[in-house]
Amino acid sequence: MSHRLVLLASLVLSAGCGGAASTTGTTGTTGTDYSTRASAIAALSGSVSSGGALYKSTASPTCASCHLADGSGQPPTTPGLIEPAANDTDEELATAILKGGDAMKSYASSLSDQQVADLIAYLRSAFAQ
Ligand code: HEC
Repeated sequence: MSHRLVLLASLVLSAGCGGAASTTGTTGTTGTDYSTRASAIAALSGSVSSGGALYKSTASPTCASCHLADGSGQPPTTPGLIEPAANDTDEELATAILKGGDAMKSYASSLSDQQVADLIAYLRSAFAQ
């Protein structure tokens, strides 16, 4: 019994360390290395309903205005999200959202880690069939 408590305590302690590391990851907005933050986002559990509301928002971040509600995109300028939602890792999707590219702005400063995780959960649920 006491053995179990010690084990539990050390698990809680190491979880605490992980939490501190991901907090550091959220502060970078202009850096080009999003790997720490992308891993922190990948470790979160996203909400499909919150992500769907964000994706379809017409105020901000307006993802669907470019990638369309069904995720088909507007090739060749705006990629569809069906293939990435099915094949990319959480880290790759998080990095794409944080970084932006071409017409897509960087969402590193306007979205929280949890919001990016919610968006990824939605992309998987809605488009990765
Ligand atoms: C102004 C139009 C626009 C908006 C708004 C926009 N995107 Fe994009 N998105 C793009 C373009 C253009 C690219 C291609 C970027 C590149 O090639 O570097 C892209 C790329 C991506 C990719 C990578 C696709 C791949 O092929 O790997 C993902 C994932 C993505 N966007 C998700 C989102 C999400 C989620 C939002 C909302 C938070 C969003 N985008 C908002 C235009 C947009």
